[in-house]
Amino acid sequence: MDHKELISKAIEARKTAYAPYSEFTVGAALLCSDGTVYTGCNIENASYGATICAERTAFFKAVSEGAGDFEAIAIVGAPQGKEPDFCPPCGMCRQVMTEFCNPESFRIILSNGKEDRIYTLKEMMPYSFDNLQSSSV
Ligand code: THU
Repeated sequence: MDHKELISKAIEARKTAYAPYSEFTVGAALLCSDGTVYTGCNIENASYGATICAERTAFFKAVSEGAGDFEAIAIVGAPQGKEPDFCPPCGMCRQVMTEFCNPESFRIILSNGKEDRIYTLKEMMPYSFDNLQSSSV
């Protein structure tokens, strides 16, 4: 699957975001090496801390169904009703990616619908904490 197709799936996933408090909607599409895609949206809560980001929704859907070997995630976000825009993942989502992805090869794809920007996880999360591997510091 090319990255344009993955971005389209993130744009589609954004439509089901539940964000009545921030009114900022996000969609994500997570690609596995076998071609399977798990999508996610942000889901907010009256108790704000119970909110989950689109990226972690996608990861937790995937991991809970036994998936692994993640290749890339496409993310789009913007205020509700606005066109998709670049939405870099929050620190907590980068930490979750670090748990399940190869930092050298996993790609984070951002788009505003016109221009795409692609980063490795290592670029977005240098010197990360990963208890299962030796320190990169
Ligand atoms: N949000 C995401 O879903 N992903 C991000 O990368 C940044 C933030 C959500 C959380 C909250 O529902 C809203 O966007 C505003 O922070």
